[in-house]
Amino acid sequence: MRALSLLFGLAASASASAVTLRDNQSFQAKCEQFAHKIQVQDGKVHQVTYVPSGTNVSMPAVPASCGGNAYSDKTPFDFCRVSLNVTTSPESQFYMEAWLPSNYSGRFLSTGNGGLGGCIQYKDMFYATQYGFATVGTNNGHNGDTGVFFYHNNETLKDYAYRAMHTGVVVGKEITKQFYSQGYHKSYYMGCSTGGRQGWKAIQKYPDDFDGVLAGSPAINLVNLINWGARFLPITGNSSAARFVTNEQWTTVHKEILRQCDDLDGAADGIIEDPDLCHPVFETLLCNSTTSKGCDSCLTGTQIETVNRVFSPLYGNNDTLLYPRMQPGSELLAALMYYNGMSFAYATEWFRYVVYSNPNWDPATWNIQDAIVANAHEPYNVSTFQGDISAFQKRNGKVLHYHGMEDPIITSDSSKMYYKHVADTMSRSPTELDDFYRFFTISGMGHCSTGAGASSIGQGLGTFAGNDPQDNVLLAMVRWVEEGIAPEYVRGTKFNGTTVEYRRKHCKYPKRNKYVGPGPYEDEDAWECV
Ligand SMILES: *[C@@H]1O[C@H](CO)[C@@H](O)[C@H](O)[C@H]1NC(C)=O
Ligand SMILES: *[C@@H]1O[C@H](CO)[C@@H](O)[C@H](O)[C@H]1NC(C)=O
Ligand SMILES: *[C@@H]1O[C@H](CO)[C@@H](O)[C@H](O)[C@H]1NC(C)=O
Ligand SMILES: *[C@@H]1O[C@H](CO)[C@@H](O)[C@H](O)[C@H]1NC(C)=O
Ligand SMILES: *[C@@H]1O[C@H](CO)[C@@H](O)[C@H](O)[C@H]1NC(C)=O
Ligand SMILES: *[C@@H]1O[C@H](CO)[C@@H](O)[C@H](O)[C@H]1NC(C)=O
Ligand SMILES: *[C@@H]1O[C@H](CO)[C@@H](O)[C@H](O)[C@H]1NC(C)=O
Ligand SMILES: *[C@@H]1O[C@H](CO)[C@@H](O)[C@H](O)[C@H]1NC(C)=O
Ligand SMILES: *[C@@H]1O[C@H](CO)[C@@H](O)[C@H](O)[C@H]1NC(C)=O
Ligand SMILES: *[C@@H]1O[C@H](CO)[C@@H](O)[C@H](O)[C@H]1NC(C)=O
Repeated sequence: MRALSLLFGLAASASASAVTLRDNQSFQAKCEQFAHKIQVQDGKVHQVTYVPSGTNVSMPAVPASCGGNAYSDKTPFDFCRVSLNVTTSPESQFYMEAWLPSNYSGRFLSTGNGGLGGCIQYKDMFYATQYGFATVGTNNGHNGDTGVFFYHNNETLKDYAYRAMHTGVVVGKEITKQFYSQGYHKSYYMGCSTGGRQGWKAIQKYPDDFDGVLAGSPAINLVNLINWGARFLPITGNSSAARFVTNEQWTTVHKEILRQCDDLDGAADGIIEDPDLCHPVFETLLCNSTTSKGCDSCLTGTQIETVNRVFSPLYGNNDTLLYPRMQPGSELLAALMYYNGMSFAYATEWFRYVVYSNPNWDPATWNIQDAIVANAHEPYNVSTFQGDISAFQKRNGKVLHYHGMEDPIITSDSSKMYYKHVADTMSRSPTELDDFYRFFTISGMGHCSTGAGASSIGQGLGTFAGNDPQDNVLLAMVRWVEEGIAPEYVRGTKFNGTTVEYRRKHCKYPKRNKYVGPGPYEDEDAWECV
């Protein structure tokens, strides 16, 4: 809500040029006539609707599994809303929308998806359209955030891996050209989580799709992310297992991690700036003869082993690193998702509907052999871990990658692993990568947003902290592409309600943030990237 009201009326300041209607017709008439003009190959247009500012934008029937993605609100801008289905094979199709604003900036933008896809990220559609982007989003080939649609359906899986989004971009650019006589001058992408993976997929497979890609907390190395997610239940056991660690005990573990690691960056502020420095010894929490076994404030030896295994990387049977460790600092939320003695739905569905085509597969039985089978099966390069992205560099593309340092769902170590993989594969030092690839580590950010720290960086609705590019990763991306001014840091804001508590400049990897004073930790100038 805050974001919407602050952004109201600011669209024009972000616009390069307001659209001039050649024939002086009203925007409404232009939109209504577009219903007769629009032509999409393999597409079936459902609706072309003029939506004036102030209208409560209604969403078509969105499945319950899409949860908060079925966002509804009053629009602060006028736009022409196009909805259609596009066929990708005789067995598959996707649903998409294009939001074409009257205050058009001449820029195209595609949004991505989350989880196992199946839901348009309407919040991102709202966010980007406010800045004057002609904005598109697809349901990624199936309706609802579940993998059940992949069961005996490779074409739908292929849409999820890469095809729906790429086709949506091709179709969306065509619609944009048909609607605005001047076409578009730059093409952008923004997405987080699975959306982050889709941004990287475009860079790797369709480097010409975008001039600028904003990719957050990416679900890259996807099959091993799924293996890693499947691994936690066998590690923790269910809630009746002796090795199971309770939610209250995870709170104890979290406090111990902060006790050992919080001030390694110079400030005891409850935020671990760089988890790389944090290698906690959990044996300090062992129950002894005077503390009762299994109480909230201590752990048995068996439970300590569980905690140690939770924070260990996942290796293949020949010592190949498949997926890095969970970063310490995320355990309060990770305990509710991964360490709760229940299976992780995305991982379970992947094994049931993609790897084994067996809806009865039991997630409690997962072991390293399953990881090997899952990797052997990797469909359509869905893992999205190609190290050579030189084609994207050559076409002068820019990628701004970010990851929350307390992400409880996708460990930020995975982004560091990929950054190194690109550097090693291309033989490019960080200084050389800076020309086109910059990765920012956002301390105090959970999965894509929120968290204990300065996590509002303008990465979407509800994280708006100003239109200065240093506070707004989307506008920083645009400035980098169009003016050649690359971001040196990303400034995050910590809000308490609508009040700014403090701001902090987040560093460009591999630099890390260090408190140097003399001001208090809330003072952004008391920190230095080293
Ligand atoms: C364009 O439209 C405006 C308002 O509808 C009108 O006042 C103006 O005369 C029109 N101009 C031309 C050249 O038709
Ligand atoms: C918009 O409509 C939805 C239902 O479609 C409703 O839940 C919501 O409260 C409405 N919002 C406003 C701002 O009127
Ligand atoms: C569109 O931009 C103009 C300035 O060019 C501004 O006055 C107007 O409020 C904007 N309208 C909307 C709906 O954003
Ligand atoms: C559009 O495609 C989706 C699958 O992505 C399908 O569920 C839906 O029924 C299609 N809609 C129409 C009107 O054909
Ligand atoms: C936990 O797993 C054991 C077998 O490993 C089973 O017997 C027991 O019923 C399970 N308990 C719960 C609460 O699921
Ligand atoms: C046992 O653990 C408690 C709580 O951590 C601690 O206060 C106490 O000193 C320990 N006792 C011994 C004998 O180590
Ligand atoms: C090591 O194992 C992984 C899977 O566990 C496999 O993908 C990889 O090819 C293996 N490497 C070698 C050198 O055998
Ligand atoms: C397509 O599905 C079949 C079985 O349904 C499977 O054997 C095959 O490997 C799949 N192809 C791909 C590329 O995943
Ligand atoms: C996967 O990507 C590699 C390049 O990284 C390419 O050689 C291979 O053909 C791709 N496979 C599929 C099924 O797209
Ligand atoms: C947040 O705001 C509330 C109400 O304005 C205030 O009571 C509280 O102390 C604030 N918290 C912090 C950490 O500043």
